[in-house]
Amino acid sequence: MKNYVLGAVSTVALMSASVAVAEPQAEVLHWWTSGGEARSVAVLQQEFADNGGTWTDMPVAGGGGDAAMSALRARVLSGNAPTAVQLKGPAIQEWYEEGVLADISAVAEEQGWADVLPASIAGHMQCDGTWCAAPVNVHRVDWIWANADVLEANGIEMPTSWEEFNAAAEALQASGIIPLAHGGQAWQDATVFEAVALGILGPEGFHKAFVELDQETLTSDEMVAVFDQMRVMRGFVDPNFPGRDWNLATAMVMNGEAAFQIMGDWAKGEFLAAGLVPGEDFLCASTPGDGFLYNVDSFAMFAVDGEDRQAGQALLAELIVGPSFQEVFNLNKGSIPARTDVSLDAFDSCAILSAEDMAASSENGSLLPSYAHGMALRGAQSGAITDVVTAHFNSEMSSQEAVEQLAAAIANSL
Ligand code: GAL
Repeated sequence: MKNYVLGAVSTVALMSASVAVAEPQAEVLHWWTSGGEARSVAVLQQEFADNGGTWTDMPVAGGGGDAAMSALRARVLSGNAPTAVQLKGPAIQEWYEEGVLADISAVAEEQGWADVLPASIAGHMQCDGTWCAAPVNVHRVDWIWANADVLEANGIEMPTSWEEFNAAAEALQASGIIPLAHGGQAWQDATVFEAVALGILGPEGFHKAFVELDQETLTSDEMVAVFDQMRVMRGFVDPNFPGRDWNLATAMVMNGEAAFQIMGDWAKGEFLAAGLVPGEDFLCASTPGDGFLYNVDSFAMFAVDGEDRQAGQALLAELIVGPSFQEVFNLNKGSIPARTDVSLDAFDSCAILSAEDMAASSENGSLLPSYAHGMALRGAQSGAITDVVTAHFNSEMSSQEAVEQLAAAIANSL
């Protein structure tokens, strides 16, 4: 007994000695490079520095993170994984299965994450019962943003059905305004597509199509109608849309060149970074239809050597889920906190609407993972869907052909 106690004490002494010398280091791979995004990630950099950490930034530009994920693959394949990586949804599990993630359960348990995170979010952060990622927020994807003055000047209300949206867009087009600010990048096409799909298929149909990959739903008349609406939307974008970054599309709404943008609430981060006020300068509403598409950003730690880097991972994980970061970061990012115990008093009306709708949709079963932002499916399946969506949007492909291609692409990817 005596020996055991002595042994324990000396282990603790050794551990605290090593903690005392470890200087937290983190090389952080992320894709937050737009104005609002950069402002948000700066909050984490600052908190990390305030707590003695040294941050090495590895930003990989490209909305939606496709380029960042390619960079990550290259780094891991070369045996030189970054310390911390912006990673989310099923991709966390995919990397876990490769055996390259660090276990952050010690921090999660010490900080009581299970008590402050909704079960639906915690589920994404756990791998085989261990904690493998730390959530920063809840973004909602199915939003429509509008320039308040442009709508008022044209006597247009925020649309509550796709028919109303189409009628508003036609009227705006006739007055020389670009109805829909859009960037022709595959992930942005997918973002608009899933908002339209949620509206037309309804929450149950969306779940069947993009979570269960149900062939009948994928080839249904309703799915044909989704592609029909996408064809109509194609007519509402300006000729310069190919390749445009999402934040430049948001800027078109800000400056009144365009009326609407369909984009997740990281777009609100851009409006706010430009000093604009929700309800006055710009308007937010959920896209027509029921349900809520969530997109939870998170960070995973990769297995790395070195006490400094491991101390950096523990510190980052603790800060990310900490209440102060969750508030300040999300005020900038446009999202709402992942933690349920952060006061929303400082948040704007769009964030309050998001929180209320999230709670209601969680109650009635219409809280759904975003397929376009990697929350619903593994990469092979979501990629297969997006390929068809973007091929349809950028060609004369018929809706019938699109659903057939969709069903075939999914069958091939399984
Ligand atoms: C999303 C990500 C958001 C936002 C957006 C545009 O996938 O979850 O945080 O940054 O991409 O880059």
